[in-house]
Amino acid sequence: MYEDNRIIRNAQALTTDFIPSRIFSRDGQLQAMRDDMRPLLKGLSPRHSFLFGKPGTGKTCMARYVAEELAQHTSSVAPVYINCWESTSRFKVLYTILQRMGYVLSVHRKGTPTDELMDILRKKLEEKQAVIILDEVDQLEDDKILYDLISLPKTCLILISNNETAFADVDQRVRSRLAAADHVEFPEYKTDEIMGILKDRIEWGLLPAVIKNAQVEMIAETAGGDARVAIDILRIVAESAENQDLEKIPDKLIESSLPQAQVARKDENLTRLNPYQRAIVDILTRNGRTDSGTLFRELQGIARKQKLEPIVDRTFRKYMDKMLRYKMVESEGSGRWRTYRLI
Ligand SMILES: Nc1ncnc2c1ncn2[C@@H]1O[C@H](COP(=O)(O)OP(=O)(O)OP(=O)(O)O)[C@@H](O)[C@H]1O
Ligand SMILES: [Mg+2]
Repeated sequence: MYEDNRIIRNAQALTTDFIPSRIFSRDGQLQAMRDDMRPLLKGLSPRHSFLFGKPGTGKTCMARYVAEELAQHTSSVAPVYINCWESTSRFKVLYTILQRMGYVLSVHRKGTPTDELMDILRKKLEEKQAVIILDEVDQLEDDKILYDLISLPKTCLILISNNETAFADVDQRVRSRLAAADHVEFPEYKTDEIMGILKDRIEWGLLPAVIKNAQVEMIAETAGGDARVAIDILRIVAESAENQDLEKIPDKLIESSLPQAQVARKDENLTRLNPYQRAIVDILTRNGRTDSGTLFRELQGIARKQKLEPIVDRTFRKYMDKMLRYKMVESEGSGRWRTYRLI
């Protein structure tokens, strides 16, 4: 398929979905997570872990990696990955977990009450243990599901968030259990660490000698500690060199690809919003800068029309906080004078 290519050997290796063949500079975090899960192998209760850190620091990648690693080691553990921005409700989370564990709910059972799903899951867990990854756990609508899951026997939870204080507002019972979870920090990558990650992708994804070491360093420096941005820049640069029929990547292409990489990051962030945050983006697109009270009121109006559950002010603030962390919106002022605008 790529025989006429001059730059790209394997386009898939240049995407952020590609599973890297080697993991760089996260030995401490991987080991901590392995130790937390290990009791599962003896049929004992494991320790839950909570991974936190800025965007593009490898949280999702490492969680999936260790869960898969354990599942390959023993068939008695099912690895379950949940995007909480896709599955925001208690019902949807339970439904998805059961589905991933191979339990098929027939269509007429879609109206199954949530508590019944919980009973089915408990039964299922008597046959098979699970490592359940709740990615972007702060996107959940309802904390009750955390309480349900955290109390399950022989289940290891891996919770992921950009926000170390994601659980400050949750129910006291959940909070005290979460306090006992292993808090694993993912610091921003340094330039040489990003270079290591990029070199692996280059080895798989590009033809030999099309990019210079100094250029890899340039990309790594520009990425600002975010591995996803670095991989996006590499892909965009390689694609545009390939499209221009070049044999090597010129320096100027790296500089000119940065704005495109930022757009790619923005688009990818948009896909991760829950329905409420998508409505918030619509309101801010329409209104421009909007004060917090008006935004909240208009959001409730849209939620009603879309037959979404109304949310409380605390949840609204949590969702806004997420968008601020991802630099999708910016705010000015505080308290009731606070205003928001899209970036
Ligand atoms: N240590 C690493 N070794 C190899 N590849 C890595 C490493 N860290 C991250 N990556 C790659 O970088 C990209 C971003 O990583 P990942 O999606 O895990 O970040 P994240 O911390 O979950 O970010 P976000 O908070 O935006 O979800 C992925 O394609 C991943 O495969
Ligand atoms: Mg992630």
